[in-house]
Amino acid sequence: MDVKARLRLGVLVSGRGSNLQAIIDASEAGRIHAVVAVVISDVADAFALERARTHGIEAAFVDSRLFDTKEAFDAAVIDLLRKRGIDLVCLAGFMRLLSPQFVEEFRRRILNIHPALLPAFPGLHVQRKALKHGVKFSGCTVHFVDEGTDTGPIIIQAVVPVLDDDTEESLSARILKYEHQIYPRAIQLFAEGRLEVLGRRVLCHGSDAFQRDEKPYWGATNP
Ligand code: GRF
Repeated sequence: MDVKARLRLGVLVSGRGSNLQAIIDASEAGRIHAVVAVVISDVADAFALERARTHGIEAAFVDSRLFDTKEAFDAAVIDLLRKRGIDLVCLAGFMRLLSPQFVEEFRRRILNIHPALLPAFPGLHVQRKALKHGVKFSGCTVHFVDEGTDTGPIIIQAVVPVLDDDTEESLSARILKYEHQIYPRAIQLFAEGRLEVLGRRVLCHGSDAFQRDEKPYWGATNP
C-alpha cells in the first residue's frame, strides 16, 4: 500500500509554546498527518524547548548573538531545517521577522498564527489594539508567511466576541483556545494538499459543506 509519508514540521518558537503543544498533541493523536521533527528557538530558556524535549523531539537553541547579521542567523536556521528534511515551517510565537531569503527558501511552506483577525491589528500588542479600537469581534488567523509582517495569504480564521469587561489577558485567553484548534487544522489542510493560493486568496478544496453553513457566527472557524 502506498502510504504517503507524514509531513515533517519544523516549529520556530520564542516563548511558552502552547501552540507548539497543540501541534504536538494533534500529531501524537493522529489528528494531523505530520510529525514535529525539530523545534528551534532564538531564546535559550523558552519553555517551548522544554515541551519539545518532554516529547522526545529535537529542541535546538540558535543564539542570535553568534551571528553578525539577521541573514546569517536565518541561514543557520535554514541549514538546520534543510538537514532535518523539513517540509513545512510553522512559526508559533517566534518573535523575529524572517529575512526575504528565508521566505524565498520555503516559499508557501511557512505558516504563522496571529491572535487577531488579519488584516486588522498586525504586529505586537494585538489585544491592546483591539480593545482600544473597540472592535466587537476579534479572533485568530493562520496564514502563509510572505515578506511583510502578518501580511501573507489567509488560510483559516476563528472569530470570538470581545466582551465589555475584557482585559488584554481575558481576550488573549479566549482567542488562544481557538488558536490551538485552527493551527493543527491548517497544517492538516496543507498536509492533505487541499490549499491553493490564488493571489491573496487561499482556496480550500473539499470544504464546501462547512463553508456554506451559515449557522456559526462567533466561535466559528473556516474552513
Ligand atoms: C500566540 O498568541 C500566537 O498567536 C502569537 O504568539 C503567541 C504564542 O503563544 N503569534 P504560544 O507560545 O504558542 O503559547
